[in-house]
Amino acid sequence: MFKTVAPSIPFPPAASMEVLFTQNQIAERVREIGRQISEEYAGESIVLIGVLKGAAIFLADLARAISVDNTFDFVAVSSYGRARVSSGAVKLIKDIDNPIEGKHVILVEDILDTGLTLSYLRGLMLQHKPASLKIASCLDKPERRLVPIEADYVAFAIPNRFVIGYGMDYAEVYRNLADIRLFPEELAVGH
Ligand code: IMP
Repeated sequence: MFKTVAPSIPFPPAASMEVLFTQNQIAERVREIGRQISEEYAGESIVLIGVLKGAAIFLADLARAISVDNTFDFVAVSSYGRARVSSGAVKLIKDIDNPIEGKHVILVEDILDTGLTLSYLRGLMLQHKPASLKIASCLDKPERRLVPIEADYVAFAIPNRFVIGYGMDYAEVYRNLADIRLFPEELAVGH
């Protein structure tokens, strides 16, 4: 059993939360995106840049679903007040390890939500002068967008609900779940 965030906020057991996408549904979409990317980048090589920590599992699966040469790197950001009412400020806390100038880059994210994180990262990556830059996001919550940005590859568009699993967390818990589940709305307040 997990500990609690605060005495009054329990972590519901995974099995009690409704499954939004099963492991198999996710695997199927990742395979499709992998095929699409492999066709579009035929003869090239790609650098996948994952946004820690949420995108780690999606990136691991996507990298193996892409048949063209690919390497990967990670960035980490902190956003002041990751909450629904956020100041919008995003700060880089871990940069890429290797240069990407002249390379075909795909930024890999778990969820495209307000868009603040990816629009900040896109601007930052463009400063490195990659040959091309695209975005792959496992999930997309189009209703929540505050800045105009779209992903080039999306596994699933979802309504405005808080989700966990397949890399996505609530207070660092549930990232390891194989399915994507709906977190109870009444407990997701402030996220
Ligand atoms: P945004 O697009 O800058 O608002 O932020 C996207 C980030 O917020 C994602 O990478 C996630 O870390 C986090 N996030 C947004 N919605 C959810 C959710 O439903 N579950 C878990 N994390 C979320």
